[in-house]
Amino acid sequence: MIQRVRKAVFPVGGLGTRFLPATKSMPKEMLPVVDKPLIQYAVEEAKAAGIEEFIFVTGRGKTAIEDHFDHSIELENILSSTGRKSEAKLLSELVLEPGQVAYTRQQEPLGLGHAVWCARELVGNEPFAVLLADDLIQAETPCLKQMLTAFYQTSGNIIAVMNVPKQHTARYGIVDMGKETGSLVEVKGLVEKPAPEKAPSTLSVIGRYILLPEIFEYLGQKEKGRGGEIQLTDSMAKLIGNSPFHGFKFEGHRFDCGDKAGFIEANLAFSLSRDDMRDEIFSIIESYK
Ligand code: UTP
Repeated sequence: MIQRVRKAVFPVGGLGTRFLPATKSMPKEMLPVVDKPLIQYAVEEAKAAGIEEFIFVTGRGKTAIEDHFDHSIELENILSSTGRKSEAKLLSELVLEPGQVAYTRQQEPLGLGHAVWCARELVGNEPFAVLLADDLIQAETPCLKQMLTAFYQTSGNIIAVMNVPKQHTARYGIVDMGKETGSLVEVKGLVEKPAPEKAPSTLSVIGRYILLPEIFEYLGQKEKGRGGEIQLTDSMAKLIGNSPFHGFKFEGHRFDCGDKAGFIEANLAFSLSRDDMRDEIFSIIESYK
């Protein structure tokens, strides 16, 4: 019988060096797209997919994330005593249910694979989702929800994938593709950040994963990969052949918010999709032409 996916891991232990100095004392995942931090978009996507337990793998200087999903009694009191009900509601909706949220700390940023491994005891022996907040996905049906439908069809590992320009393969984990059926692509192999001439395809791995718990055995070997980091891609590659492994071509637009240009594009796209902002932002853009 297929186990339900109840838990999601949010690795937020990275240094965010591409956003220095902004990320010197503020977590990258707290950068706002319009008026919401990146990590909140990821948590809302997980909630919309029916996730019940939220596991954050944090690091030094990341306490703002814990505070963001907790009560702020003083602020809530001020808002309710001054009659600002909609703002007060916004804040109360943010708070995750007691006992359904866990924080564990990655003491050293040894890589994404190591961050996921840090969540092993909290995940236990069941399939789980991983969401990288800096990959922001605008979609009618939240990306993780689309992936869960695919998971219940295949009962195996599912990773979100999309085609990227050939000259960008060195920024991503790249899929060696097998059979394609609709939105699903059989994964025959995975290569972390290959040069364009060495890339097996242009189908790249995006920061949404549904993984079987067997991944922890491989992550636990703590083998260093590209850039001297413990890579999630390397352990995922070892799972191939043991259990079904598919890439899932999701519907939606992905913004790479770990990159400055991608982050600015996300702010434009999200503000232009809002009725209360579209006209104003359009006229600002026009004024720069
Ligand atoms: P990135 O590869 O974007 O690295 O991580 P980074 O450190 O956050 O940013 P740059 O490249 O220095 O600017 C992708 C995701 O994996 C997490 C990050 O927090 C981010 O959400 N991560 C990365 C960890 O949790 N731990 C790590 O050791 C590395």
